[in-house]
Amino acid sequence: MLSRSEPMRETMMFLGQIVRRWRVTGAVAPSGDPLARAMTDAVGEVARGQVILELGPGTGVFSRELVRRFPHARVVAVEVNDVFASHLSAAVPGLTVVNGCASRLDEHLTNLGLSPSDVAAVVSGLPLLSLPGDLPQKILASVAAVLRPGRRYIQFTYFRRAWRRFDTVGFRWLPHRRVWRNIPPAIVLSFTRDE
Ligand SMILES: C[S@@+](CC[C@H](N)C(=O)[O-])C[C@H]1O[C@@H](n2cnc3c(N)ncnc32)[C@H](O)[C@@H]1O
Repeated sequence: MLSRSEPMRETMMFLGQIVRRWRVTGAVAPSGDPLARAMTDAVGEVARGQVILELGPGTGVFSRELVRRFPHARVVAVEVNDVFASHLSAAVPGLTVVNGCASRLDEHLTNLGLSPSDVAAVVSGLPLLSLPGDLPQKILASVAAVLRPGRRYIQFTYFRRAWRRFDTVGFRWLPHRRVWRNIPPAIVLSFTRDE
């Protein structure tokens, strides 16, 4: 449970990281609860003991909703920024935090004694449109490598059309959903891993 001052403290932490690491942080504020609910709604069925991989948790807005909605699953959050990673370990009980890059998901799973067959879904808050060079494409390949056919990859974006620049071979696009009650308004993209 968050104390009343915690959301404000987390927002200040997020703003501080925007100033220091703008391209990696990639947003003007943490996501709001309506977007967290929409992302979590898109996950679908998760069996007992399966893993939900969260990428780019930041201050943990999606993490808290995932842990709350899927208490029978294990939520593993992969965060590259050590300020966020160390905060999350204490702030979100029940969350497994990996301080590392989302382009190396297979390796992170192995280090935790897990394998791709354990992964029910990937939920991503990564700012793929602002990350440099070929990193976004490497991250998409990393997601594809840990998802079995039919399993879901959920990603939010502020600019759906800009996603045309990415090669999403290996994923099938599902209908998207707009979330107006977010700053800025966001779009939840949903994919399933192809056969
Ligand atoms: C747009 S913020 C989203 C934070 C949070 N999910 C939210 O919606 O409020 C992007 C997050 O992705 C993290 N990130 C960026 N590149 C990453 C990478 N290569 N691997 C893991 N995390 C990354 C950033 O540090 C930041 O926490």
